Amino acid sequence: MTPNAIRYQPDLSGISATRLTGFFAGWSNAPTVETHLRILEGSAHVVLALDAGSDRVVGFINAISDGWYAAFIPLLEVLPAYRGRGIGTELVRRMLAELEGYYSIDLVCDADVVPFYERLGLTAIPGMALRNYARQRRGVAE
Ligand SMILES: CC(C)(COP(=O)(O)OP(=O)(O)OC[C@H]1O[C@@H](n2cnc3c(N)ncnc32)[C@H](O)[C@@H]1OP(=O)(O)O)[C@@H](O)C(=O)NCCC(=O)NCCS
Repeated sequence: MTPNAIRYQPDLSGISATRLTGFFAGWSNAPTVETHLRILEGSAHVVLALDAGSDRVVGFINAISDGWYAAFIPLLEVLPAYRGRGIGTELVRRMLAELEGYYSIDLVCDADVVPFYERLGLTAIPGMALRNYARQRRGVAE
């Protein structure tokens, strides 16, 4: 069966928390759909991938930024059933186009995803991070 086409939207129009199910696959302390929506609402840039047939949200990428100099991409995910179809590549490509002109665009990823980002023009550099795993799930009221 031919998979449905994917459409992309650069905003949250029409998106409620109930449309954000299935993400954070494999996370032991995954954010709720409400927390996920709040993360996206607080982001400077968001690109969503939607299954054009079912209108299901199947992928997303977000960026936070100071508005003109530096941007950071905290999250990128494609639902497991939709991976390997170029959706992740297109989400990054569209986000990088939105962030064109910034001095720095940074993200943190596992080593196995480095080749994916290198193909998109990013360079692996050393970085430092601090994670408060007790806050990984983080309720919207907190
Ligand atoms: C990374 C991710 C967004 C890629 O989405 P996708 O729609 O499958 O990506 P594409 O179809 O555009 O590209 C897939 C390519 O990236 C490679 N790739 C993606 N994730 C990979 C991983 N974790 N390990 C190794 N290779 C990976 C695939 O092997 C594939 O390569 P190929 O085209 O040579 O076969 C998706 O795998 C995902 O959601 N992973 C879990 C969350 C994650 O790791 N996000 C990045 C955190 S910064």
